[in-house]
Amino acid sequence: MLDSNYFHYTDKRLICEEVRLEELASTFGTPLYVTSAKSLIDSYRAFEHAFEALPHFTCYSVKANFNLNVIRTFAELGCGCDVNSAGELYRALQAGVAPEKIIFAGVGKKHEEIAYSLECGVLMLKAESLSELRAIDRVAGEMGKIASVALRINPNVTAETHPYITTGDSKEKFGIDEAELPEVFALFAQFANLRLIGLDMHIGSQIFDPEYYVAATVKLLALFKLSKTLGFAIKFLDIGGGFPVTYDPLKPATPIESFAGKLIPMLLPAGVTVIFEPGRYLVANASVLLTKVLYRKRNHVGKEFFVVDAGMTELIRPALYQSHHEVQAVTRHGETVVADIVGPICESSDFFARHREIDAVAEGELLAVMSCGAYAAVMSSNYNGRLRPAEVMVNGCEVKLVRKRETFEQLVQNELF
Ligand code: LLP
Repeated sequence: MLDSNYFHYTDKRLICEEVRLEELASTFGTPLYVTSAKSLIDSYRAFEHAFEALPHFTCYSVKANFNLNVIRTFAELGCGCDVNSAGELYRALQAGVAPEKIIFAGVGKKHEEIAYSLECGVLMLKAESLSELRAIDRVAGEMGKIASVALRINPNVTAETHPYITTGDSKEKFGIDEAELPEVFALFAQFANLRLIGLDMHIGSQIFDPEYYVAATVKLLALFKLSKTLGFAIKFLDIGGGFPVTYDPLKPATPIESFAGKLIPMLLPAGVTVIFEPGRYLVANASVLLTKVLYRKRNHVGKEFFVVDAGMTELIRPALYQSHHEVQAVTRHGETVVADIVGPICESSDFFARHREIDAVAEGELLAVMSCGAYAAVMSSNYNGRLRPAEVMVNGCEVKLVRKRETFEQLVQNELF
């Protein structure tokens, strides 16, 4: 069971900050994403505190949760943004983030996206290939601009995590091979419209062992040293995101201080600004997905199912990465059963938990799928004609609707006869 300052039981009822989840379900319906504003703020502060000894700039990785209110909460605390598409850039700007606090990533930026980000005046574009550098140079030249770029290196460090979310390995599409960097440095003089200001990496997501960061940072620092001898004036070393959170209380995440403890002494002597791009760390445990039990059923082999009104369309992580999410009763019963918690989608992979001990809630009662702040709403879809849920943000006893539930009209609005 996950119990925190932000989601906790009082009199057997699950509360977000000071608001009962039952109340939110009856006001806004289910499925419903519920986010604790305090959790967002405290996670950001904890991150900043851990790295305070290092000159750094934190760019929230918007892909984890791009709700405008979430982005704005961080922006108001001074945080920048890491975006991966023109759409995310648009969202960050709409949320009020200053363009010079936005960094633009992505292995396949379209020319229009490059032009849009240069037009906006982002801090830098992170280039992932020589071809992309050529494209940025050309687009910048056409616009009469000088583009500030960072080179994303692929350090060939295979971090232990789910294979779909490891990115710093030579097998993967990401970044420029570290071995190729000297050649890229040598060719850089031909780019009249580029200014090299950063070196960047991102080795994956939900990485528990700081040693992977250490191994990759050693390589990044060696390339930084080389860049200096070649006369480049690198201002930023970007370490990426990937810092872990606890989904399963039996597998608690390595504390952020352990990462800071290893990285600060390595990076401090470089004398540059270090950029971090945390996504999940800042948001994962700030939200739950509230869902109603529609039916309970038991089959002939005695297997019990709780069929709920949310599914893989609202949280695809168990289906895609076999991720563990705690599922908790909104009103605790004491008595438990072992059941599969499944959604209404016609796919066998549509489950939140299998063979899980769970409070024996009745049909019509509520469950909270925990740790749904990162990569849940942003990966939701309309598959099976589903309407994306509403999202609310709780701050103390205040509740704000931060995204309306989709409507049937919205489902068909872009289609033409
Ligand atoms: N920076 C870059 C360049 C990234 O590609 C990512 C995530 C991040 C930062 C933030 O990583 P974080 O701190 O959130 O681990 N959908 C998957 C995770 C995909 C991560 C993609 N890149 C999941 O649900 O586990």
